[in-house]
Amino acid sequence: MKQLLENKVAVVTGSGQGIGEAIARKLAEFGAAVIVTDINTEKGQAVADDLTSQGHRAAFHKFNVADFDNIKKEVAAMRDIFGRIDIWVNNAGITGVSRVEDITIEEWDKMQTLDIKSVFFCTQAVFEIMKQQNYGKLVHISSMAGERGGRSSSCAYSSAKAAVLNMSKCFALSGGEYNITSNSVCPGRTLTAMAQGLSWLTDPKDDPKKTIPLGRFGQPEDIANAVLFLASDLSSYITGDVIDVNGGLYMK
Ligand SMILES: NC(=O)c1ccc[n+]([C@@H]2O[C@H](COP(=O)([O-])OP(=O)(O)OC[C@H]3O[C@@H](n4cnc5c(N)ncnc54)[C@H](O)[C@@H]3O)[C@@H](O)[C@H]2O)c1
Repeated sequence: MKQLLENKVAVVTGSGQGIGEAIARKLAEFGAAVIVTDINTEKGQAVADDLTSQGHRAAFHKFNVADFDNIKKEVAAMRDIFGRIDIWVNNAGITGVSRVEDITIEEWDKMQTLDIKSVFFCTQAVFEIMKQQNYGKLVHISSMAGERGGRSSSCAYSSAKAAVLNMSKCFALSGGEYNITSNSVCPGRTLTAMAQGLSWLTDPKDDPKKTIPLGRFGQPEDIANAVLFLASDLSSYITGDVIDVNGGLYMK
């Protein structure tokens, strides 16, 4: 039986651990050749090596999403690894915990640089490649905080994640005529290293059994399952949209 992502090539930014790693593994499981990228060489290489050892087509490419002078060159180099890029997942990101009263200009600028400026310029670079292919699936990992505002994560983070949702629609509007879709996934409280610094993980009033309708925190694989759908042709008539993966914690 043909696999869902057979003959497709995917790039996942920040896929050395956490949600990105789960996405890379999921896309490989469903037949894509996967380029694992991260600033952390050791972790990214380990994920790619593990996928290769399981018989998948995979490679590691060190890539800092905020290396603005080199993004176009790096994305072209990634395209050359397997000859095309069908799926691009903007996953890399950082968070912050400052209260609105405490956010500094430095923190604000850092978050905007990593969580939206980099996402836009990476997408712009791969968009050119996808236009030439007349095919592309763009998936952006935003956040529940980008929809409803940040509480345990900072406003500098949630504002950048809100901008990702708008940016996604811009690429959806411009990409339709080239058979390029652009969609976002908004994770809720998901158990990764990033979650370690956030108050909801330990605060008794955030007990998931009492606060989240589905009664648990999210796992990285929960997010990866939604990305798989948006990265595949099962979603070929869906663009500019958002999938919430938050156990029902926030319903629009
Ligand atoms: N964990 C959550 O609860 C949660 C909730 C909502 C949204 N998200 C989003 O999901 C995405 C993944 O988060 P996570 O929880 O897996 O985080 P994580 O910190 O566990 O992993 C992030 C990965 O991104 C990499 N990275 C960081 N800066 C980078 C850069 N400049 N260039 C390339 N790679 C870089 C890190 O090395 C790491 O491997 C992020 O965009 C995050 O904002 C997470």
